[in-house]
Amino acid sequence: MLIKKPDDVASSEITDEKTYFNRRSFMKTAAVAAAGVTAYSLFSKKTSLTFAQDDNSWKPANPSKFNTTEALTPYKDVTTYNNFYEFGTDKSDPAENAWRLKTNPWTIEVNGYVKKPATYHLEDFVKPYKLEDRIYRMRCVEGWSMVIPWLGFPLSEIIKRVQPTSKAKFVAFQTLYRPDEMIGQRRDVLQWPYVEGLRLDEAMNPLAILAVGLYGKTLPNQNGAPLRLVVPWKYGFKGIKSIVQIRFVENQPPTTWNLSAPNEYGFYSNVNPTVDHPRWSQARERRIGEFFKRPTLMFNGYGDQVASMYSGMDLRKYF
Ligand code: MTE
Repeated sequence: MLIKKPDDVASSEITDEKTYFNRRSFMKTAAVAAAGVTAYSLFSKKTSLTFAQDDNSWKPANPSKFNTTEALTPYKDVTTYNNFYEFGTDKSDPAENAWRLKTNPWTIEVNGYVKKPATYHLEDFVKPYKLEDRIYRMRCVEGWSMVIPWLGFPLSEIIKRVQPTSKAKFVAFQTLYRPDEMIGQRRDVLQWPYVEGLRLDEAMNPLAILAVGLYGKTLPNQNGAPLRLVVPWKYGFKGIKSIVQIRFVENQPPTTWNLSAPNEYGFYSNVNPTVDHPRWSQARERRIGEFFKRPTLMFNGYGDQVASMYSGMDLRKYF
């Protein structure tokens, strides 16, 4: 994505439905989530998928007050036009290659400055929470955007559970490193494993969630199964996928894209139409499925909920 200059999205880049439905990845990740789904039922009731072809008929079982009412990006596009460099650098690579990832069993280690460090099996990690359908605008730093109905729970719930000590100022996240399955990790396109971070108050913001699904179903591997971060006011690359470690630290942690190109990708990475990427403008964006570009919104339109966290900060310096 970010290595090349982004081109406008050509419809030919988006896989046709027939190819998609034949994909093994689709068969492997399919599961139907019942209305009022809990994390437990999501992971325990794996059945074959009967997927509604018409995405407009899909309705959230447990909607959130933060949901946008904008038109949803079709499931097909959300799951075939991806950035997940562990499976290759082209948009179609993750849907093609991510079936290799074994997501069961899966453990998440929570450590650092917390009173209750622990290593959880995925099911135990998510079991206490009722999952919400969070319909968010998502904006990639490359200039395209989608509206995605995530299924997840607030990151703040986990933070409260492990009880950070007063030394914890940032939260650092890490993706799995398993080059046998994540075939993109066999090449040094990025430093592996992929890492990301948030300031503790950002992580506590009610908009920040850990997602285990989308469109009410288990997260497809290419979208970051079995657990990924979603931070809708920041560029998409902050949303680290396939998380295996969450660490509470004192100092600002390294982040993959900042390590890769520090002049292009900062730690904060808030969506900001007035701070251009050095190689392209950020003033406008193309919503996948629309022809004309639309203006980019400050904080991706979530300013009411997040702007106060950055008051007094020079967002040109801290881009
Ligand atoms: N997480 C990992 N581990 N590896 C990646 O390459 N890409 C990021 C982010 N999370 C990435 C990642 C980028 S650049 C974007 S835009 C989003 O995932 C894309 O998420 P999506 O494919 O579900 O839309």
